[in-house]
Amino acid sequence: MPYLCGIMYKLLRSALFRFDAENVHHWAMSALGMAVRTPLVGAVMAHRFSIRDKSLERTLFGLRFPNPVGLGAGFDKNARYLKELSVLGFGSVEIGTITPRPQDGNEKPRLFRLPADRALINRMGFNNEGVEAAARRLATWKDKNASDMIIGGNIGKNKSTPNEDAWRDYDSCFRRLHDLADFFVVNVSSPNTPGLRALQEKDALSRILSNLQEINAGMPKRKPLLLKIAPDLTEGQLEDIVALAGEVKLDGLVATNTTISREGLSPTSAAHAASIGAGGLSGAPLRKASTDILRRIISLSEGQIPVIASGGIFTADDAREKLEAGASLVQIWTGFVYEGPSAAANICRGLLKNT
Ligand SMILES: Cc1cc2nc3c(=O)[nH]c(=O)nc-3n(C[C@H](O)[C@H](O)[C@H](O)COP(=O)(O)O)c2cc1C
Repeated sequence: MPYLCGIMYKLLRSALFRFDAENVHHWAMSALGMAVRTPLVGAVMAHRFSIRDKSLERTLFGLRFPNPVGLGAGFDKNARYLKELSVLGFGSVEIGTITPRPQDGNEKPRLFRLPADRALINRMGFNNEGVEAAARRLATWKDKNASDMIIGGNIGKNKSTPNEDAWRDYDSCFRRLHDLADFFVVNVSSPNTPGLRALQEKDALSRILSNLQEINAGMPKRKPLLLKIAPDLTEGQLEDIVALAGEVKLDGLVATNTTISREGLSPTSAAHAASIGAGGLSGAPLRKASTDILRRIISLSEGQIPVIASGGIFTADDAREKLEAGASLVQIWTGFVYEGPSAAANICRGLLKNT
């Protein structure tokens, strides 16, 4: 049965891949929305995709994840598809990146497929409806649903906010979503907001993170706070981040975001990649670089910093590679596009085979 679904998705995928990638994203999620809300269909899908097994459960920073396979940030930027994603069996979803004010993001087209390399290049630029819209949807979702899927809130800054004021943007998103999200991820690693990644430098980061931890300490219930990092950091920057994570008592790191490098692309030609222009590369060509960063974090922190691994995960073997390298949980994104709706369930099934 999973094999048949895989073949059917691959046939559908070859038709969908003829259209603009961002449009297909919206059509596919609308179709999925209709399917999960159709009583019998929704129930059959939930039964097929929700893989329940005690050995898949993980408890991390005080949260119980029903399985270790999450969906990375950027797929559900506005907390619109939580029902669909919970039916597809994700253990967690990172909504966002959310900024205080709504913004359109970069000019279209801004999402490109490299099928021969099982990769994507995107320069979305934090298109989102702003924190207020996300907060309202999240509140409604929590009221109306009893899902055990864990929700992470991935927060960022508006493009128009200068870097010296960036901490205020993180501050307002964190406060607004504090009692709605289960954990938070500070995103300073997207390549598509000019200057954002300069916030990965120790002093700038320290200001943002210390402020959020102060707010956290004053809340009735503190929420786990993580930082998402780029795969393009130098060894020195990585050492600084691991040291800072200890100083400000971060609960973990998400490693990694997309890369600005175009290494590892084959058979896609350098000329074709260059013709697409700027943006973050994700998917199979990112897998090794992001696992290398994961290993460095585990080694530098002597295994003391929990890591959620993101980058090039398509199959249970890819997930196992990250878990064996020391990750506590994994996230997929590009793998979901290429493998289809059963991606999370297939990874869970594959992980169960070797437990
Ligand atoms: C189209 C697209 C949009 C993304 N948007 C965000 C985002 O808003 N915030 C973020 O932290 N990461 C974002 N990401 C990065 C993913 O969450 C993930 O970390 C990265 O793609 C690597 O994983 P993958 O190889 O499984 O895709 C985006 C990725 C893609 C492909």
